[in-house]
Amino acid sequence: MSKRPEWLDAAVFYEIYPQSFKDTDGDGIGNINGMTEKLSYIRELGCNAIWINPCFESPFGDAGYDVSDYCRIAPRYGTNDDMVRLFEEAHKQGIHILLDLVPGHTSWDHPWFKESMKAARNEYTDRYVWTDSVWEEPEGFSTIRGLSERDGSCIVNFFTHQPALNYGFYRPEKPWQQAMDAPGPQATIEALKDIMRFWLSKGCDGFRVDMAGSLVKNDEDQKGTIALWQNIRAFLDEEYPEAAMVSEWGEPDKSLAGGFHMDFLLHFGPSHYNDLFRCEKPFFAGNGDASEFVAKYIENYERSERKGLICIPSGNHDMDRLARHIKGDNRRLAFAFLLSMPGAPYIYYGDEIGMNYVEGLASVEGGYGRTGSRSPMQWDTSENAGFSSAPSDRLYIPIDPSEDRPDAASQTEDEASLRSEVKRLIAVRQSHKALNNLGDIEFILNGAKEKPLAYTRSFDGEKIFVIINPADEKYEMTSAEGLSDIIYKFGECSVTDTGCVIGPHSAAFIRQGADRGSEASE
Ligand code: NOJ
Repeated sequence: MSKRPEWLDAAVFYEIYPQSFKDTDGDGIGNINGMTEKLSYIRELGCNAIWINPCFESPFGDAGYDVSDYCRIAPRYGTNDDMVRLFEEAHKQGIHILLDLVPGHTSWDHPWFKESMKAARNEYTDRYVWTDSVWEEPEGFSTIRGLSERDGSCIVNFFTHQPALNYGFYRPEKPWQQAMDAPGPQATIEALKDIMRFWLSKGCDGFRVDMAGSLVKNDEDQKGTIALWQNIRAFLDEEYPEAAMVSEWGEPDKSLAGGFHMDFLLHFGPSHYNDLFRCEKPFFAGNGDASEFVAKYIENYERSERKGLICIPSGNHDMDRLARHIKGDNRRLAFAFLLSMPGAPYIYYGDEIGMNYVEGLASVEGGYGRTGSRSPMQWDTSENAGFSSAPSDRLYIPIDPSEDRPDAASQTEDEASLRSEVKRLIAVRQSHKALNNLGDIEFILNGAKEKPLAYTRSFDGEKIFVIINPADEKYEMTSAEGLSDIIYKFGECSVTDTGCVIGPHSAAFIRQGADRGSEASE
């Protein structure tokens, strides 16, 4: 396992969807200078790292996950120089920046694909996964067919306009399926390394990697894809050892073995993430059951052998806003959980103020149902919520029309706001190593129906007991001895000789194992 950049041990990430964050040139869409302007907001909240969704040249059929030039910032966001300035300004404020790397596919507008479609053999003929006849539609894959002079079908990775780059097949079964070590797949890996070099040499701190687990085909156990990422990590260790990598994979034992430092638990895959925040009865809405999540988490935690960080995001650009399912003060409990778990927390822009999923929007840039989670950041109570000076009908996505929509300025002022709660939680996390990214976790209560979730976090002799109760009834915990001072509390909680009593809709972080008397006299 490669060494982890030290800053990851205390990283708290903020995800920016660039289209919707801050527009400084009045064209109705966010830009890089807008992010630079708002760095201090992010820093003031307590976040010290940012992941930016793709901002490279693209026809934007999938909001930028359809890249047509990996080494050029899309003009609508600014220039490469603006991006370098953002890196520099962020670093001055102690913030690290991850760009979004989309290694699995490009846009069908990418010059590589245009060359690859030609009948005559050229440098890009094997850059994508093609069959050797247009009549062949390979089982289990969707394809682009009938658009090229070339006689073949090209496998796509996601939408129809996103042809799959060729990293080879783990078990080639047909003549057109190339082995991983064939020249075509090897050239694709080298091209990927060049893209990474390009941005790392300009000051970027690493990458969030899109669909990282699906690069090699016919690779059920992902052994080929793991080997591919080990190759990339070896290159990084050699040339950019400080580059941080987080995968969209959802199976930490595999991604961390591939050399990633972090992997996301997400709304897809086997993690039971949705049981907590986004299902009919989410645990944090007060009436759900977290026990399957906990069982799966423990399995992942043990299997990943602490090789890296398992990351639980508050949300992202692909899933419903947290606030769509979790209401009122229960949102604070969700953040108390997110900010007291091991691994690096990721906060999706606007979740810290409880931004809502905007219902009923027309799809924008391939967003479909995701569009409602991508609406402009609500900065203040001015026109367009302070997002842009463009006429409101020219905005990338309409602003949440609700009269009581939350905004960052009002919540920053208000000590009792959700944002202030999130800020307090980040500060508590940052001031206790046990609560931070590397602290161990042991579950005490698994959040089975109508019960709280409780766990201890520990690091280097410090032990903190966390209890979160989203249910309507108070709960008496009688088997947590040695609890002393409460270092964070929302709602009601009192320490007893055998544990504590936690009120309904309440959360507390309590020091454990220290002598109560001496703590009190400190
Ligand atoms: C996952 C990204 O998060 C999503 O937004 C995108 O549409 C797909 N991958 C395809 O790149």
